[in-house]
Amino acid sequence: MNILILGSGGREHTFAYKIAQSSYCDTLFVAPGNAGTAAIATNVGMNVTDFDAIKAFVIKEDIEMVVVGPEDPLVHGVYDFFQEDEQLKNVAVIGPSKEGATLEGSKERAKEFMIAHGIPTAAYQSFTPHTLSEGQDFLETLSPPYVLKADGLAAGKGVLIIQDLNEAKEELKNMLGGKFGDASTTVVIEEFLDGIELSVFVLTDGKDYKILPTAKDYKRIGEGDKGLNTGGMGAVSPVPFVDDAFMQKIEERIVKPTVNGLAQEKIDYKGFIFIGLIKVGDEPKVIEYNVRMGDPETEVVLPRIKNDLVQLFLAVSKGALSNETLVLDDRSAATIMVVSGGYPEAYEKGKVISGIDKIEDSIVFHAGTAIKEDLVVTNGGRVIAITSLDNDFREAIKKSYQNIAKLDFDRMNYRRDIGFDL
Ligand code: AMP
Ligand code: GLY
Repeated sequence: MNILILGSGGREHTFAYKIAQSSYCDTLFVAPGNAGTAAIATNVGMNVTDFDAIKAFVIKEDIEMVVVGPEDPLVHGVYDFFQEDEQLKNVAVIGPSKEGATLEGSKERAKEFMIAHGIPTAAYQSFTPHTLSEGQDFLETLSPPYVLKADGLAAGKGVLIIQDLNEAKEELKNMLGGKFGDASTTVVIEEFLDGIELSVFVLTDGKDYKILPTAKDYKRIGEGDKGLNTGGMGAVSPVPFVDDAFMQKIEERIVKPTVNGLAQEKIDYKGFIFIGLIKVGDEPKVIEYNVRMGDPETEVVLPRIKNDLVQLFLAVSKGALSNETLVLDDRSAATIMVVSGGYPEAYEKGKVISGIDKIEDSIVFHAGTAIKEDLVVTNGGRVIAITSLDNDFREAIKKSYQNIAKLDFDRMNYRRDIGFDL
């Protein structure tokens, strides 16, 4: 069958890498893609939220499956757009309905869902411009640090963690006053959870589920987890501190009630659930849901899945996931993100990347790259992820660093301490 992947990052190159290996895949397209996807699929210059252009392309190329990488098209209802169209309704769309995507699109909605289904999470209250003073009073009842979250999508920048009470009150006012535009006209204030973060990924058809490998990502730009938040600077899978007993708790208290909650609420959900967790003592608590795979977590999760990914997706789409058995590679995977100097603030594009052809024994996943006059050039903040597999996760990390040493472009940057805390 012909398959279309929506997106252009390392996550989408990793999807393309797995899907290109599938016996079900005839022709693979990626919109808009990057230099890495161009080497194994056909890139299509289409915006991921231009549903009319996507429709025309899907019909023209006889696409039977659309795999949605980022959250934007999901939150905008790409799944429903296909379901409601006579010509598109038989296309398998991997990703939840618009209603399902509110778990990521609205923090308040996610909290309400967790409370309704008894899923452990931080205590919270939400506020709007009319209830600013109640919000400020609520802050006084909490102890620092204060966690303020913009309700809507704010490009990963909508969460503030503040030590000082007066500053927190001021920021609440700023957020409700439009600091993040419409995204922060509702603000969730929640209890600070003190613990170590990890992520669990679930593939579901809305009734049954498969728990995919766990991963830990490194969000800050600087070594020692210092500096600004990024999309993610590296990841390791599995998470070494997750044992069977802890995983059992995650499955019983979080994964099952989440999938059952979706079914109970009659939400059409055929795709990934990315559950961001904090381990507080020995207890898992949910800090957020995402309705897609993570980036760079995908770069360590998918290479550890031995199944034909398209076969799994077909089962998801037919509501027959219970017939499939997940087969995992026992080895650990590590990925390191190579980024443009300046990222996550301003950075330049168009720098020629050398050394990609010298990489051995690791997988190169392109993120922000493009082809210009036959050369691979930088085209984003996060440029390339180098993934390695090994029985020992520390060896996997070492392999990625050895290969990164062969790469070069002007103002190349990466974190030198991925996985060192594990
Ligand atoms: P989110 O966008 O909800 O994932 O939040 C971004 C980051 O803020 C998370 O990855 C955590 O590091 C941190 N965070 C969010 N909520 C909390 C919380 N309740 N307690 C402690 N840290 C949090
Ligand atoms: N790496 C975090 C995310 O994809 O949201």
